[in-house]
Amino acid sequence: MSVHPNSLSSQKRLSHLDLLNMRRNNEKISMLTCYDASFASLLDACKVDVLLVGDSLGMVVQGHLSTLPVKMDAMIYHTEAVCRGSHRALIISDMPFGSFQISPQDSFRNAAALMVAGAQMVKIEGGIEMVETTNFLSRRGIPVCAHIGLLPQSVNHLGGYRVQGRDAESVARLRSEALALQEAGACMLLMEAIPAALAASITDDLTIPTIGIGAGAEVSGQVLVLHDMLNISLGKKARFVKNYMDGASSIEDAILCFISEVKAGKFPALEHTYK
Ligand code: KIV
Repeated sequence: MSVHPNSLSSQKRLSHLDLLNMRRNNEKISMLTCYDASFASLLDACKVDVLLVGDSLGMVVQGHLSTLPVKMDAMIYHTEAVCRGSHRALIISDMPFGSFQISPQDSFRNAAALMVAGAQMVKIEGGIEMVETTNFLSRRGIPVCAHIGLLPQSVNHLGGYRVQGRDAESVARLRSEALALQEAGACMLLMEAIPAALAASITDDLTIPTIGIGAGAEVSGQVLVLHDMLNISLGKKARFVKNYMDGASSIEDAILCFISEVKAGKFPALEHTYK
């Protein structure tokens, strides 16, 4: 009989309900991207709460210029590796470009493949246009993390990696999208590159945990791309990235420092946030 890689240890993993309790108890949630078993094991030992198998792997692992070329096969492969390397952290996998935009039914098929690979939640980029799919997946047993604000998969449409939520129309849209996605069943919301005050007020409007990346400190938790915070990614870093290798004696030290700064509300500082 074959044993699913996640089946022996699944009772010990954090669940989305643990994250909800953390939000309710004002305990900040720490999240880092992760793509392989060795880092999964190290991050797990450091007790990071969530491992995000992000489609940023297209840039930091595969060497592409954007996340657009990432395929489902790659997401499955990396999700399986992260699952094999860890036993405590909640695992979220990104749905890559093209895997969830056609129909809720196709999205379910792709999301289910990520869950079979070991994910406990899938992340979907998009606002109002993803409400129906979020509802379809949630009602069929797939926890969804919605992702609003700067959407890297829409870089061509946005005309670049730009901060969102800076004019009245965009502020109103982001606020209503957040509420609609929660209403549709999303059990977590990730907000990327939006002003800190907007992210704080969206967090106040919601009951689900909110995770920020370039969204200020007044959210339920923080995520960074692992290669960015270890200062090994190529190219210009966004304002919200902090180099945790600066002054650290090891990779483990850098990761522990990130987790403790997130838990203490010290990261992000003002210099990492947008007004
Ligand atoms: O793919 C990714 O790394 C992301 C970031 C927002 C963390 O989605």
